[in-house]
Amino acid sequence: MTRAQREIGVLKSAVFVLSLIPLALLLLKAANDELSANPIKDITEETGIWTLRFLVATLSITPLRKITGWQRFARFRRMVGLFAFFYGFLHFTTYVYLDQFFSFEEILRDVAKRPFITVGFTAFVLMIPLAVTSPNRIVKWMGGRRWQQLHRLVYLVALGGVFHYLWLVKADTSRPLRYGVVLSVLLLYRMWDFFKSRGVGSRVKV
Ligand code: HEM
Repeated sequence: MTRAQREIGVLKSAVFVLSLIPLALLLLKAANDELSANPIKDITEETGIWTLRFLVATLSITPLRKITGWQRFARFRRMVGLFAFFYGFLHFTTYVYLDQFFSFEEILRDVAKRPFITVGFTAFVLMIPLAVTSPNRIVKWMGGRRWQQLHRLVYLVALGGVFHYLWLVKADTSRPLRYGVVLSVLLLYRMWDFFKSRGVGSRVKV
């Protein structure tokens, strides 16, 4: 094993442990009876916000790699993306199990009638093919181009997460809007990078 590989291994372990801290803190709070009078709401909110944070972190990795030139950033993208799915799964499970007690009739009614649930549910469903196609074997089997096309869905998922959040807050929209701004910057960067790589603009005669 080379030194560079060892370094990446250590960094990956650190990112893995750091990514589990939000869950550990939540479990600790629950064990110490430090959650509010509505613990289900606390758990839903905490897992929801971390799903969104991990989605934004996943989308930041490529711009960070390009801006800093540190190619190894790419080695963390899959893990961070899978943590977004992990927290999304916990968030969804909290809703299905603790909030709705597996009442599928109630859940379907909620998905159909409450727009913020409809959008959140759609975003979560779209995350499933992304998580399932994350192993290297599947990337190879699909081919890089098809895989990349499918994984552009992550933008839709993150946008869905922001709208879901925006829709559910009653008064103060500043927090979801902040995530919306960060996401817009990341999207604009991608678009700028896409057009730049195709040489759009450089062919315009002056
Ligand atoms: C990508 C998928 C999703 C993301 C990024 C996401 C994100 C969020 C965020 C950021 C919050 C607010 C947290 C806060 O107030 O601090 C939240 C709350 C919530 N989410 Fe999601 N969510 C997703 C999917 C879902 C799904 C699939 C469901 C259920 C079917 C759901 C149900 C809820 C509920 C019930 C709340 C709490 C509403 C309240 O405060 O009463 N979410 N979610």
